[in-house]
Amino acid sequence: MVKSTSNFIDSQKSELQRLENTAWTENDIQVFVKRDDLLHADISGNKWRKLKYNVEQALHLHSEGIFTFGGAYSNHLVATAAACKEFGLKSIGFVRGEELNSASNDTLKRCVELGMELQFLSREMYALHADKLFVDELKLENPRFYAVPEGGGNYYGIVGCQEIWKEIPKDVDHVFLAQGTAATSCGVLLGMPENCRLHAVPVLKGFHSLDSMKSLFYGFFMDDEALEELFQKVTVHSEHHFGGYAKYTPELLQFIQDIFKTYKLPLDPIYTAKAFYAMTEELKKAKYRGKKVIFIHTGGLQGCKAIEEKENIRFFG
Ligand SMILES: Cc1ncc(COP(=O)(O)O)c(C=O)c1O
Repeated sequence: MVKSTSNFIDSQKSELQRLENTAWTENDIQVFVKRDDLLHADISGNKWRKLKYNVEQALHLHSEGIFTFGGAYSNHLVATAAACKEFGLKSIGFVRGEELNSASNDTLKRCVELGMELQFLSREMYALHADKLFVDELKLENPRFYAVPEGGGNYYGIVGCQEIWKEIPKDVDHVFLAQGTAATSCGVLLGMPENCRLHAVPVLKGFHSLDSMKSLFYGFFMDDEALEELFQKVTVHSEHHFGGYAKYTPELLQFIQDIFKTYKLPLDPIYTAKAFYAMTEELKKAKYRGKKVIFIHTGGLQGCKAIEEKENIRFFG
């Protein structure tokens, strides 16, 4: 019997953690973190939200497995491998970088442990990952596999992310999160209550946030007018990428250590620390006085070990 996707991960594991400090208390700002990082060891953060309906779709189509795309340290590849294993599906991961192999790092090793077949693409070839003709070619080569785009950024990923609103209070004024493909931001925005504002923090330098969200939303047949209205509720904080994707500074690494010391909240340097930093900077402004704020922890902690080793530091005590 096929396992049900709805009972797979217990959403109650993702608690709403209250964070307090003197400045926020003085300004009557309530800050909570939606701890999606606690959902699952391999499928943490936004990963199950983006994969759930993709897995359901693959099962519904009686696919043999799922193929998808990711970089050398991709949280999405690990999560896809684990989700496929759980539901009896095979998985193929197309990895950016032909110089890599299955033993290049712990992320790729974990994918293989979870049964994923890895195929390594040159950077030129990988750049085509969202190109329809290229994906169609891969589908021809893997006819019984269901294709999921990089980062789970498709219609089903967005629908899954929208469901987070079943688990967070509707009287929140501001929501902060990290943005990569923008699928999570699209889902959260779609389900957002009337008077709430979404703060997206792109981790890629020069990322066209609203354009990327727009092209994902076109999958919902939304027209530009409807999108303009929706985008009135979005603020993009594009100045907190710390050098760009997978880049970080000593200041950011110190910030992660300090936040863990203060709140026992683990953040990763690629996504969540950048967004959390952006939030702490924003909350210094007077307009947040008396407001209720939620930070969505989108996971990504599996990649921390490699950075700890490279930098010879410990983030979490
Ligand atoms: C840990 C983490 N946070 C945030 C994101 C960004 O999510 P999205 O690609 O849906 O914008 C990702 C990428 O999927 C991620 O791995």
